[in-house]
Amino acid sequence: MSIQVPAQWRSALPYLDERLPEDRTPQTRAGGSVQVNLPMELARQSIQQKEFWDIPAPVQEAYRSFRPTPLWRASRFEQAIGSRVPIWVKYEGENISGSHKLNTALAQAYYYHKAGVRELVTGTGAGQWGTALAAACSLFGMRCTIFMVGTSLERKPYRGVLMRLLGAEVHASPTTLTDVARQSGGQGNSLSLAIGEAVEYAARTSGAAFCIGSGENYSILHQSVIGLEAAEQLAEHEAEVDAVIGCVGAGSNFGGLALPFYTEAKASGGTMPRLVAAESSSTPKLTKGVYAYDKTDATGTSPLEAMYTIGSDYSIPDSHSAGLRYHGAAKLISALRHQGYVDAVAVDQVTALECGRVFTQTQTVLPAPESCHALAAAARLATSGAGDLRAERGILVCVSGHGYLDLGAYQQLLDGTLRDQAPSPAALLAAVSGLAPVDSPARQS
Ligand SMILES: Cc1ncc(COP(=O)(O)O)c(C=O)c1O
Repeated sequence: MSIQVPAQWRSALPYLDERLPEDRTPQTRAGGSVQVNLPMELARQSIQQKEFWDIPAPVQEAYRSFRPTPLWRASRFEQAIGSRVPIWVKYEGENISGSHKLNTALAQAYYYHKAGVRELVTGTGAGQWGTALAAACSLFGMRCTIFMVGTSLERKPYRGVLMRLLGAEVHASPTTLTDVARQSGGQGNSLSLAIGEAVEYAARTSGAAFCIGSGENYSILHQSVIGLEAAEQLAEHEAEVDAVIGCVGAGSNFGGLALPFYTEAKASGGTMPRLVAAESSSTPKLTKGVYAYDKTDATGTSPLEAMYTIGSDYSIPDSHSAGLRYHGAAKLISALRHQGYVDAVAVDQVTALECGRVFTQTQTVLPAPESCHALAAAARLATSGAGDLRAERGILVCVSGHGYLDLGAYQQLLDGTLRDQAPSPAALLAAVSGLAPVDSPARQS
């Protein structure tokens, strides 16, 4: 492989048709007033209209231990599903965290460490983000405390072991440690509650800072290494794609893969592939949600962000794709969806894992359940099409992580006990009824 690890991240912010809507201050403050202190460079990366950002040398050096990540044509998978077009896979599962999350964890740990922070605190759903942060903290000599969604930790105890092995302290959320969990009556079991616990815990712990793995502009920027590498790798293969697909929890692997293609097309005036977000049908923010101001976590103390959301109060059904169990999409991804640049497909977990089974047998690579949603969406575009969405020349799909710690999900698939839980229209309506819509006009297409 002759391509190099990128020396710069590339931001889409200078190329938006309109600026992102400003965050709003929440009116109610449960769990006290909580400040999130962001290192200056992360704050700049969130708002500045600067296209290229140098990747700090220690982060580049850490990247070099697992990047460039592989890209290959999944020919046997194509054959098995009857694909009409080549399918190219960009694989982010070959690092200790088992997913793309390490790309931003390393950058964030570096910036927080430089700012004098000694401990990072976070919430994690699937556990990949927690593992990535634990690994990054270990490299930069920082303490790490993790609140992991309890049902997910129960289902994947070895995620907890791995994080502890990397030196992190791991709590099953809801805990008895925070007001926000106490106010949930120990009932909540969502990523937004785990994040809320982390926010509150960090705010009252000296030398600690809360940090988050997805959703913010800077984490999508850090993930741009995925799409930048993929574009070069496709060029090496003289391959053309007209659809780029990633699964969406809050949107960082999708944004990381897809936005460099958006930015390049905007900068050069070239053709933009369809940018297709694959979400879980149990958390259908992009296909069935509303574009409104909503909370990013359960404390309600963080700014309200303009996002496609099914409502932060919606009780998301349990699922194996814990990384997709988030009520909203990142504000950057949401704005691009609103402006007509991002398409979305919802996939149920049985279809997703069935597609993962075919991928495992044909490619001998075991995808994470989250990534299976992207593969299933790719299979749809490559065969019958999804509504008016179909690929005619080629597809690039991100397999965001491996599924070695998710074999319980595959076991249920094989045993025939895996079920789907799509939300009812009434439940969705109720969960978004109090939210303020975003006023910016939609693009006419
Ligand atoms: C393997 C994997 N893929 C995808 C996601 C979804 O996150 P994001 O939308 O930030 O890429 C997660 C989140 O935990 C994950 O672990």
